[in-house]
Amino acid sequence: MAVNPPNPLDPGPEQSPTSLDPTDWHSLRAQSHRMLDDLLDYVEHIRNRPVWRPMDQQVRDVFRAPLPQRPTDLPEVYRDFSNYVLPFATGNVHPGFMGWVHGGGTIVGMLAEMLAGGLNANCGGRDHAPIEVERQIVAWARRIFGFPEEATGIFVTGTSLANFVAVLVARRAALGATVRPAGLGAAGHRLAGYASAAVHGCLPRAMDYAGMGSNALRLIPVDNNHRIDLAALRSAIAADRAAGWVPFLLIGTAGTVDIGAIDDLASLADIAADEGLWFHVDGALGALGVLSPEVAPRLAGLERAHSLALDFHKWGQVPYDAGFILVRDGALHRETFTSQADYLQRQPRGLAAGSFWPTDFGPDLSRGFRALKTWFTLRVYGTDQLGAVISHTCRVARHLEARIAAEPRLELLAPVQLNIVCFRYRGPDPDALNSAIVADLQESGIAAPSTTRIDGRLAIRAAIFNHRTTVRDVDAMLDAVLRLGGRRAGSHSRTAARTEARTEAQTEAQTEAQTEE
Ligand SMILES: Cc1ncc(COP(=O)(O)O)c(C=O)c1O
Repeated sequence: MAVNPPNPLDPGPEQSPTSLDPTDWHSLRAQSHRMLDDLLDYVEHIRNRPVWRPMDQQVRDVFRAPLPQRPTDLPEVYRDFSNYVLPFATGNVHPGFMGWVHGGGTIVGMLAEMLAGGLNANCGGRDHAPIEVERQIVAWARRIFGFPEEATGIFVTGTSLANFVAVLVARRAALGATVRPAGLGAAGHRLAGYASAAVHGCLPRAMDYAGMGSNALRLIPVDNNHRIDLAALRSAIAADRAAGWVPFLLIGTAGTVDIGAIDDLASLADIAADEGLWFHVDGALGALGVLSPEVAPRLAGLERAHSLALDFHKWGQVPYDAGFILVRDGALHRETFTSQADYLQRQPRGLAAGSFWPTDFGPDLSRGFRALKTWFTLRVYGTDQLGAVISHTCRVARHLEARIAAEPRLELLAPVQLNIVCFRYRGPDPDALNSAIVADLQESGIAAPSTTRIDGRLAIRAAIFNHRTTVRDVDAMLDAVLRLGGRRAGSHSRTAARTEARTEAQTEAQTEAQTEE
C-alpha cells in the first residue's frame, strides 16, 4: 500500500507533542485554586501550628526516593508537599519565630512570587517591563536612603552577596580598571579593610573571595554598646599605612547581627573621607530602619555611604530572597562588572535594547524577578506602614527587655538597641543550660529563638522581625523559658546532689576500706 509522504506545509497540531502544559486545563485550574486556598489557610491560621517541628526518619525518607523517570500526578506530588514539606518548614511565617534574622513574609509577597513565576522573566537584561520594575525599585531605594540620581543598584540573593559586590566595587575603585584583567598581584599593593569585631562573617568571606584574604579585614574592637571604637580604628589605619599596607575600605554596620548595634555612621563617613577610603554600610538588618521615625535618626550618616547592602527579606517583610546593593557611583559600579560578548550585544531597538541590564552591575547573568515581590510590598503597604512595623518590633523587644530586667532568674546580656534581645537563665553551667533551653523551646513548638555568644557567654537571642509578633508571643516565649529553665536547673541540682551524695558515699567507703587494710 502506498504511504503518502509527509506534507512539509502541514502546520501540525497547535500544541507540541512534548509540551509540558496540561491537557486538562479545567482540573489543573481546580487544583491550582486548591493549592492557593491551602496556602492562604496556612498563613491565616499559622498560630494554630507549632512554630517548628523536627522531622522524623519517615519524613526524611520521603526525600530519599529515587529519581522519578515516569510522571506522577500533580495532586499526588502536592499531597507529599502538604504532608512532608509544609509542616516541617523553618517556621518564620509564625509569630513565635524569633531566631537568627528571618522576616515573616506576607501574602502579598507570596502572590507576587506566583505572578513572577508565571512570567518566568529572566532579569539579566533586555528591554521588558520586569527590568523597569527593578529600575523603579532602584529609584525608590535612592529616595529611601538619600542616595543621588547617579546611584545604581540591583537585587541579589542576600546581603552576603550584596556585601561581596560592594567589596569588588571598592577594590575596583582602589586599583583601577586593570585589576579586572590582571588581578590583584599586578597592582603590587596589599589592600586592607576595616570593620568592627561585631561585623557579620560574610564580610571576611567577601574579602577572601575578592582575593585580598579574610585577614586583610581588620576587626576593630567595639565599645560597651558594640559599636566600632573610633580611636582604635584610626590607630589601626595608621599602623597599616606605616607597615606599607594600602587601606581602601571602611565598613560600618547598621544593625549588628548579634545585638542590633548601629555604628556611628556619620563619624565613619568622616574618617573614610579623611583617609580616602571607600565607605560601605552593611545594612542587612538595620538599613530599612530609616522608614521608622524612631530608628531613622540613629542611622544618620548612612546616606553618605559609597555603597549600601541590605535585605528586603528581613525587616522589609518581602519573601525570600531579596537582597539589594546600592552604589553611589553608578559608572564605577557598572565598570566593575560589565563585559562584552557577541551573544549579549545591546541594540538600539527591539528586545535587545534597553540601557539598564542588571548583568552589568553584578555577577549574575540569569536572574529571577525578585523586584516584583518588593514592588508589590512597597506599593500595597507603603513605606509608612512598613516603618510602623519596624517601630512595632522595637517596642515588642523593649517589652521583652523590661520583663527580663524585672525577673531575678534571668540576666540581660546586652543592651537592647533595636529589635534583638540577648539574655539567659541563671543557673549552674549556664552555657549548657541555656543551649538546652533553646533546643527544648524549639522542639516544644511554642517559640523559636536562637543562640549566640556575647562576651564568650552563651545567650538566648530573640530577634523580632516578623510583623505578626506581639507582646503576647514574647511573653509566651519567656514564660516557657522560665518553665523549662526551672525544670532543667531543678533537675540539674537534683542530679548534682545525687552525684555529690554518691561521691561522698564512695569516699567514705574507700576510707573505711583503707582503715580496715
Ligand atoms: C548584619 C548582617 N550582615 C549580613 C548578613 C547576611 O545576610 P544574608 O543572610 O541575606 O546573606 C546578615 C544576616 O543575618 C546580617 O545580620
